[in-house]
Amino acid sequence: MSRRFFVGGNFKMNGSCDSLKAIVENLNNADLDPQTEVVVAPPTLYICNVRDHIKSGGKANLAVAAQNCYSASSGAYTGEISAQQLKDVEVNWAIIGHSERRTLFGDTDDLIAKKVEACLAEKIKVIFCVGETLEQREAGKTLEVVEKQLAAVGEKVKDWSDIVVAYEPVWAIGTGKVATADQAQEVHKAIREWLGKNLSSQTAEATRIIYGGSVTAANCKDIGSRPDVDGFLVGGASLKPEFVQIVNANK
Ligand code: G3H
Repeated sequence: MSRRFFVGGNFKMNGSCDSLKAIVENLNNADLDPQTEVVVAPPTLYICNVRDHIKSGGKANLAVAAQNCYSASSGAYTGEISAQQLKDVEVNWAIIGHSERRTLFGDTDDLIAKKVEACLAEKIKVIFCVGETLEQREAGKTLEVVEKQLAAVGEKVKDWSDIVVAYEPVWAIGTGKVATADQAQEVHKAIREWLGKNLSSQTAEATRIIYGGSVTAANCKDIGSRPDVDGFLVGGASLKPEFVQIVNANK
């Protein structure tokens, strides 16, 4: 089975009306590989604006994602948005479990699993992030940490057909210290094996596993050429014109 290459752009808390307009225009006018699925995640405030202006349904098939989504459908949760609301505004993707949510905003494995469940229940597809800190890698605990993060979702969700797994080593995020292609492949392979052992061989074969952490135009081809790397989740470089080259890494 061939897996469609997937590139996400996580703008994080960056951008303004003007800069996001320029990013969207750049993507709309670019010659993007039609084989690659592209999803961009602007800050929530701009999500409908980006949704209105990005070219979806064309050959590039650009879509929009939220950077987070709460597990409840509505209620007294100041500052949060729900999967139901994403569905209402026709935003069909959400990033869940990003390490910045885990470390800065206290998202636990259990809450993340609930968020994933809530999204899937509303047919919101999920970019589910996992990854170890430098301390955990140096202690030889990378696979243990990643498998625990996977298991939390695996306990609640058996159908992973609307999940893309993003492996993002925390030490590589925003640091310029990218994982080597071998390091990425090793963990991606282990994630695929985990999916096979704990869900099904079909899930292991079909699930896209993307890499995130200091991906640039210069390093994307090498990492993207590995057999278990099915694309990228890009932070800083998704705000720059070189995002187009990353989308086209597999061309
Ligand atoms: O979601 C994206 C990742 O956190 C990667 O960010 O490309 O700026 O390292 P970065």
